[in-house]
Amino acid sequence: MAIEHTFLMVKPDGVSRGLIGEVISRFERKGFTLEKMRMLTIDEELARRHYAEHVDKGFFPELLAFITSGPVVAMEWSGEGAIAGAREMMGATNPASAAPGTIRGDLATVITENIVHGSDGPESATRELGIFFPV
Ligand code: RTP
Ligand code: MG
Repeated sequence: MAIEHTFLMVKPDGVSRGLIGEVISRFERKGFTLEKMRMLTIDEELARRHYAEHVDKGFFPELLAFITSGPVVAMEWSGEGAIAGAREMMGATNPASAAPGTIRGDLATVITENIVHGSDGPESATRELGIFFPV
């Protein structure tokens, strides 16, 4: 294992439901380190960059409408095995299948409104951190 940096985001549903603190608290208690944080509203251009691998999928219009619907909290977190570790803590993409104890399993019910985004690997983490936290 090694110290990794990953990109995490509280999505518009998490912000509007008052779950920013809940999400941050879980990662803090785990032992990961919050490195950077900013609140912003994602526009269509940014959504297409961030979710580039999904723009041609059937669910993209719904995802686009949702992710641009209100402010999000974008964050950089670090820690031992932080990329996979954060994904474990988020739970399965579809909250209906996400295990109890995970963020999505405990706090969400439908696939679009699933509270959090997390980078799915080292290349995604580097790419997404560069989008939201350009140097
Ligand atoms: P994320 O990128 O947001 O962290 O989620 P993920 O890796 O667990 O899932 P991914 O396959 O990357 O999908 C991105 C987001 O698109 C929405 N989605 N909807 N209706 C559908 O079939 C469907 N599939 C995916 C979800 O909001 C998912 O988080
Ligand atoms: Mg993904």
